[in-house]
Amino acid sequence: MSARVLLAGNGGREHAIAWKLAQSPAVGEVFIAPGNAGTALVGTNVPVQPKDIDGIVKAARDLRIDFYLASMDDPQPLGLVDRLQAAGVLCYGPTAAAARIEASKAWAKEFMARNGIPTAVSRTFSHHSEAVAWVESLPEQRLWVKASGLAAGKGAVGCETRSIALRALRSMMVDGEFGESGKTVVIEQDMRGWETSAHAFCDGKVAVLWPFATDYKRALDGGEGLNTGGMGAYAPSKGVEAPLVREIQQLLVDPVIRGMAREGHPYNGTLYPGIMVTDDGPRIVEYNARSGDPETQVHMPRLESDIYEVASAAARGELASIDVQWSGDAAVGVVMAPGGYPANYETGHAISGLGSVDPDVMVFHAGTRSEGGQVVTSGGRTLTVVALGKTIGEARERAYDNVRRIHFKDAHYRTDIALEAVE
Ligand code: GLY
Repeated sequence: MSARVLLAGNGGREHAIAWKLAQSPAVGEVFIAPGNAGTALVGTNVPVQPKDIDGIVKAARDLRIDFYLASMDDPQPLGLVDRLQAAGVLCYGPTAAAARIEASKAWAKEFMARNGIPTAVSRTFSHHSEAVAWVESLPEQRLWVKASGLAAGKGAVGCETRSIALRALRSMMVDGEFGESGKTVVIEQDMRGWETSAHAFCDGKVAVLWPFATDYKRALDGGEGLNTGGMGAYAPSKGVEAPLVREIQQLLVDPVIRGMAREGHPYNGTLYPGIMVTDDGPRIVEYNARSGDPETQVHMPRLESDIYEVASAAARGELASIDVQWSGDAAVGVVMAPGGYPANYETGHAISGLGSVDPDVMVFHAGTRSEGGQVVTSGGRTLTVVALGKTIGEARERAYDNVRRIHFKDAHYRTDIALEAVE
């Protein structure tokens, strides 16, 4: 059988997964809704937005899709996996009930409490006055105010002082900064330590961890500037050793699989826990019910196994029968974005130099579209340039060497991706 596979999204993550799927002998065609100029090189773009669940289900029927692989956050909480499964499509991704682990931070906190998963002390509020009263009752300290619902990665505000926390509460709960997503908030006490994040293939019964990757969230070198979706990543991460990996699996990943199964909504799909490694051990910052972007762009070129074989086995609940293999090479990915991102930036500028990158360097597109035979910028993060190397240093050098061959007006990239891993 030659599978017809569907992805939803238009990021570098979706291009990387589509690129990897297209290499599988078991895959006939990859469809990406809506995709970008890069996904069109490895598959067929479908002009439907990821939140248009009726539209995606119709497209899946029309295109005779056999397999859906969930990668971005938006469609699953809206029930895309539930609907596609009902239509007979094999799905690797969480149902709406399971996707609440990312889509409702309030629900996720309760789930963690029920299942003994270590995380920050927190309270959840749906009334502004009650949230304000709690913050005012606490001694002055650093807090996190988090919109409970999805907020495009921007819904968590670190608040150094009480007055900043009160401002964040007003903005989310009264002024509606994140719409319905911010009407309920989770207020968390700060955790001290260093951050890392894991990914795992999950089939409802077992979770198989990926090697760790490190991403760079701020717009500017040295961790300065605004929070972004991610300006680059490298893998494997330095400093995540085997005993910590075992602890993360036992304390933060396996309890999700067991708890979700026990509560009647087994977790199928990629699970991406954000983690704080404290002096008392690893703690959950948040769970994501998808894979990270740009982490996926550095993971896919290192995945030696056939992604279709792994994900479709997981979708059937047969992950235990698969031996997932990863390359020993390092990968470094550098995101190129328009100057001003993530605040104010221009789009519609021609991209040149794409043809001059080395043949074994991957350029995964995000905010791009084709216009009159030319690739032009179309928003947010534009490209992730990924190179492999025997060492992180070698991969880093090759990634930056190729980044410098690509040009568009006001192109911006961080110059310190993976730097601390080679120093
Ligand atoms: N790299 C951050 C994210 O995907 O949420």
